[in-house]
This record gives sequence, structure tokens and C-alpha cells, in this order.
Amino acid sequence: MATSRHMALRCHLTSQKEEGGVKEKLFDHIVQCIAEFLDYMGIKGAPLPLGFTFSFPCKQDRIDKGTLVGWTKGFKATDCEGEDVVDKLREAIKRRNEFDLDIVAIVNDTVGTMMTCAYENPDCEIGLIAGTGSNVCYMEEMKNIEIVDGNEGQMCINTEWGGFGDNGCLDDFRTKYDIDVDGKSLNPGKQRYEKMTSGMYLGEIVRQILIDLTKRGLLFRGHISERLRTKGIFETKFLSQIESDRLALLQVRKILQQLGLDSTCDDSIIVKEVCGAVSQRAAKLCGAGMAAVVDKIRENRGLDQLKITVSVDGTLYKLHPHFSRILRETVNTLSPECDVTFMLSEDGSGKGAALITAVAKRLHSHGEEDVN
Ligand code: GLC
Repeated sequence: MATSRHMALRCHLTSQKEEGGVKEKLFDHIVQCIAEFLDYMGIKGAPLPLGFTFSFPCKQDRIDKGTLVGWTKGFKATDCEGEDVVDKLREAIKRRNEFDLDIVAIVNDTVGTMMTCAYENPDCEIGLIAGTGSNVCYMEEMKNIEIVDGNEGQMCINTEWGGFGDNGCLDDFRTKYDIDVDGKSLNPGKQRYEKMTSGMYLGEIVRQILIDLTKRGLLFRGHISERLRTKGIFETKFLSQIESDRLALLQVRKILQQLGLDSTCDDSIIVKEVCGAVSQRAAKLCGAGMAAVVDKIRENRGLDQLKITVSVDGTLYKLHPHFSRILRETVNTLSPECDVTFMLSEDGSGKGAALITAVAKRLHSHGEEDVN
């Protein structure tokens, strides 16, 4: 979330905690975060334009309207689906009645990330998030967008590629572990590609594999501990630590012990292998998706060669020791006609939303009507 003065506020919402809760609570919490931020910056009295980074699938037919299609990444707040989340935020601001904010734009995090980089680099036409969730946006030719009138120019498409495979087209690649993780999630059957490629789920896939290997007597002396049965113990940061090349096996064992898993030296070798296989598959799948996107852009433009930049954000890309390299290598292998540069964007989603808000605000104040 950001105001057009380029201030980025990250409001941490904890997934699953909102389950069954009233939707007002969620938006009141966001407004509480805004209030604290405005207090901290000493600008509570000033009327300010606000850009809302909302990292969930929305239908958008205006820049300041976003109808939530459905929650992803383990979120659930009843009665929000099908509603305009900008309206919900406006109502919560009104309820609080403490400050004057004009919500000018709602922006998906991929779009914000792309915009931050595109501000300085015109080659940047793709935004990628590889973190808790996985998603991509890119610039598509208007003539290829059937649901919008007009053939001139380009428009940014939020692909919501996390939902790829929900029609069964990934079934040949899904393992019983993927099916288990999906079945036990809050949105079974949905976001199947995301569940194979993003930080929120990789640890759970690892846990399912470890349980299976333990059942078969190949790990932890065949004993499935309560800890191993606990959902969510393998956060992405542990996978990153376990897979770090600098870490000796003894340290891997220590991490497993910290997680409450009593392991032998052989166990730690196996766990490291499992983590490596799961994250490597994720990076390759993500790379395959990216290769398809860059090749589509190249074909759109009838080019033999395309030079393009991808702006990336997300903990998996930033913190995992191998994910970013494998992703890049996969894109190079699968789309050799494209020269793809990946640029890291620190809190790009917030800054990009601020940029979009600043531009939309300026267009409004110059009396231009067609900013939507
Ligand atoms: C999920 C959301 C998507 C978001 C992505 C990364 O896939 O549906 O909107 O861009 O996570 O945060």
C-alpha cells in the first residue's frame, strides 16, 4: 500500500487467522496499519491520495475499483468475494473517521513491481512475484485483448498464473504430495501451479514427502513425530537455510533439531535432497511459465529476437540460494530467442502503486477523463 508521495506501507495480514471473521475486521485492521503509519510520518491531518496494493485476483474495469474474484495463499475472510475491495477500504476509513484519504488506484503486486522497474527501464515489460504466492503480469497488445474495445497500444495483463492447471492440464506433473497439499489447503483444486511453485507451499510438499519416507522406514527411524505432523513447520526460510551450500550437514541437523525433528546424519542428507528436489522443480516450473510469456511477447511483435527485462520481487527469489539461478537458466534454455534480464525490485509493489497513483492523480487534476 502506498501514497503517491512514494511512501510504502506494508500491512502484514496473517493468513488463516481471518477465517470465518467478519470482513469489516480485515479492513479495519488495514486502516489501523494506515493510521499507525500516518502517525509515524506525522501526516495524519493532510488529505492524501492513496494507492492500494492488493495481491489477490480482482476484476478491474476502473483503476480505482477491484472486485475480489477469490482469496488465495491461505486467506479467508467471508463475504468479501464478489465485492469491491476499494469500497470496503473506503468504508473502513470512514468508520474510523480520523483522516482524509482518496483511494486513487488499486494495483496487483506484480503490476506495481513491473511499474517500479519500468519507470527507469523501458525494456521492463514483465512483473514477477516469486514469494509466498506466484504470479506474473506483462504488457499485451490491445488487439489481442478481446474483452476491451480498441486495437491501439498495449495494456498490462495480470495473468494470475497461479491458477494455471486448475482445469487439469497440469495433472500429468502433479504428484501425490501435491494432491495432498492441495486437498488440505483452504482452496482445494484452486491455484494448482502456485501450489507447486510458491513459498507458501514448498515446505508443505517437503513435509508430505518426509512423512511418506518415514512411513516407509527410510527416515527418522520410522517414527513420525508430532512435530512432523504439524502443518507449516517448514517455512521457506528453513528450506533456504537447509539448501545453502555453505551449510555443513551438521548444521542441517541442528536446524532439524530446532524444528523438533530428531535426525541422524543420514536423515539430514535425505532431507537436504528432498528440499533440493522440491525447490528445483518449483524454479523450473516457474521458469517454464516465464519462457512461455517472453516467447508470447516475441511472437506478438513478429520478432526473431526479443530483449526484455523482468522486474522480480518475492522472498523465494530473493532469499533462496538456488531458485533465482535455476529460474533464469530454465528461461534461457526454453526460450533461446529471448534475451531476458531479471531485475530485483525491493518493495517494488508498493513503490509501483505509488507511481501509478501519482500519474492517475495528475491526469485527474489536468482534467483528463480517460484515466480508467
Ligand atoms: C497470488 C495472488 C496474486 C498475487 C500473487 C503474488 O497468486 O492471487 O494476485 O499477485 O499471489 O503475491
